[in-house]
Amino acid sequence: MTAQNPRKILVTSALPYANGSIHLGHLLEYIQTDIWVRFQKLRGNECHYVCADDAHGTAIMLRAEKEGISPEEQIARVKAEHEADFAGFQIAFDNFHSTHSEENRLLSEEIYKACRDKGHIAIRSIKQLYDPVKELFLADRYIKGECPKCDAADQYGDNCEACGATYTPAELKNPFSVISGATPVEKESEHYFFKLPDFQEFLQQWTRSGTLQDEVANKLAEWLDSGLQEWDISRDAPYFGFEIPDAPNKFFYVWLDAPIGYMASFKNLCDKRGDLDFNEYWKKDSTTELYHFIGKDIINFHALFWPSMLSAAEYRTPTAVNAHGFVTVNGSKMSKSRGTFIKARTFLNHLNPTYLRYYFAAKLSSSVDDFDLNLEDFVQRVNADLVNKLVNIASRTGNFIAKASGELSATCAEPEMLQQFIDAGDQIASHYEKREFGRAMKDIMALADRANEYIQEKAPWAMNKEEGRHQEVQDVCSVALNLFRQLVTYLAPVLPEIADKTKAFLNLDSLDWEARREILLSHKINKFQPMLARAEMDKVTAILEETKTELAKENGEAPAVDNSADKTAAKNAEKKADKKAKNKGPELREDGNEVIADTIEFPDFAKVDLRIARIVKAEHVEGAEKLLQLTLDIGNGETRNVFSGIKSAYNPEDLNGKLTVMVANLAPRKMKFGMSEGMVLAAGPGGEDIFLLEPHDGAQPGMRVM
Ligand code: 2FM
Ligand code: ZN
Repeated sequence: MTAQNPRKILVTSALPYANGSIHLGHLLEYIQTDIWVRFQKLRGNECHYVCADDAHGTAIMLRAEKEGISPEEQIARVKAEHEADFAGFQIAFDNFHSTHSEENRLLSEEIYKACRDKGHIAIRSIKQLYDPVKELFLADRYIKGECPKCDAADQYGDNCEACGATYTPAELKNPFSVISGATPVEKESEHYFFKLPDFQEFLQQWTRSGTLQDEVANKLAEWLDSGLQEWDISRDAPYFGFEIPDAPNKFFYVWLDAPIGYMASFKNLCDKRGDLDFNEYWKKDSTTELYHFIGKDIINFHALFWPSMLSAAEYRTPTAVNAHGFVTVNGSKMSKSRGTFIKARTFLNHLNPTYLRYYFAAKLSSSVDDFDLNLEDFVQRVNADLVNKLVNIASRTGNFIAKASGELSATCAEPEMLQQFIDAGDQIASHYEKREFGRAMKDIMALADRANEYIQEKAPWAMNKEEGRHQEVQDVCSVALNLFRQLVTYLAPVLPEIADKTKAFLNLDSLDWEARREILLSHKINKFQPMLARAEMDKVTAILEETKTELAKENGEAPAVDNSADKTAAKNAEKKADKKAKNKGPELREDGNEVIADTIEFPDFAKVDLRIARIVKAEHVEGAEKLLQLTLDIGNGETRNVFSGIKSAYNPEDLNGKLTVMVANLAPRKMKFGMSEGMVLAAGPGGEDIFLLEPHDGAQPGMRVM
């Protein structure tokens, strides 16, 4: 569907609890949802992405108490942290709200009352364990004791980690409250129940109406067949949440008002914007679409309770609930002690989020299967696909255009190939629509391979040195950049930052899906600027280390030191990445850093001492494939010894007496062939096309370059 007939779509991701940080496990879902939403928007659909913090419950209340602040302060702090983390990963919510909001209170009351008035609420007394010191009822996870089967100490209230037995908290031997240490007592109180069995028939039908993945619908069918239970939706005071109407001191269980938080966040957005109609998206016969992205662990809340409550309250039900699996790291569950329980912020402290967005996209499918984030594979894959394949297309061809007219050719030299790239967009769009992102990435990278083959075959850098082939160079580079534009269009949902840089480079207002059909001819472009640096395994190691240090801090311990396994992994990945880079041919620099990202501030730049130097001697270096040894006169009688990777472009004898620009204050580096005391500046695509910067017009050795 296109801009002429836009769909109206509301999308949500699960609401993160307001008592903890966003980590890799969360990010998988937000990145998945964000990609899908960006895709819909780029297709011209009207799509709104809302989320909120899940702010209620005992855990949040206790956490605030521990910090010595009010729950309101606690949730405000976490909300700011969450929003910054999401922004860091370019998760573009249209609204991020909180379940502790007036909109949510009103909607929760309304939905509850509708259920109650239709007879779907039951009230009865139940017995529960109670902490007589803290004066609160204890959920299973707040009770510990000895296993009734094997006597293992310190086991939680519902299952034994030692022997695997399951039981009720009342069966534990010598139970104690995790909160106060007191021995719990049994106490009776009145609870409110949502009568889920009333919805058996509705759910039989709803879960089989294309709203769920097959594997999920099959699992639910088992539950439905074995009979549904009433759902306890109340908690006794003290509890941080909304009081139940007409039930003093009884509060809605956090999971009652959490999904209603989706509606509340959208309501809040409608009120802020003024041009959106809440009812259009939520009324019973809505023709708009509603999608929830969630983890497979919370399917029952979204596919049983939630649609039942909505239908009882005469609201629309979700078009689909899209469940995903979990991410493991290096083959195992995320682990604090291994340093793989990685927080969003820790990742951002060391690596570009673009890498993770791409890697997750490459691994994601529409299934609920778990997938692995292997850290070596991660580094290799993002470098191979994004740096070596994608960005390389533009970096190898962009400046041939910039150096000439700055305009792409007036005619397309390879219309058929370009048309194939354009046509491929339909299949790629269908993959995105079905959340088959891995397939989309595969198709896109196959196109990127073809674009690179084309450039390699035409070798515009070689052509450029031949007389009379100027137009051909322009034509080849124009084709390459048009192909690049197609690729970035297809990757824009995944790589918003690269998309923005491409828009600036190619001078485009948008990278909308439909806009790709028009080839860029006689189109002015800008100078190519670096788009993405290589990912480095060192940084991954630093993330693991920082994560371990965080854990040690939480536990009040000294950080763990044994990271030999991580370091070996780091070395292996680097070796592999290096080898790959070297096999790529002349387009990559000797250090493999074809593309450099991240800007520096002026004071950083001002630290660089650029000087005019005269090459007084240039010599071959025995055994070096790419290096020449230069002796440089930098004025005031000072000379420097510098090794420079320009052998493929210059004969030493041609360099004697030439002026060049050098970085004079680069710390001396010990290289295999001797000490290098600075660096000379050169530019070009590589191979024979490396051009020493040669100043003229009265430049003298020792002059500062400004
Ligand atoms: O599992 C969780 O992290 C919950 N906070 C998700 C809530 S999703 C929705 F229902 F609010
Ligand atoms: Zn046991």
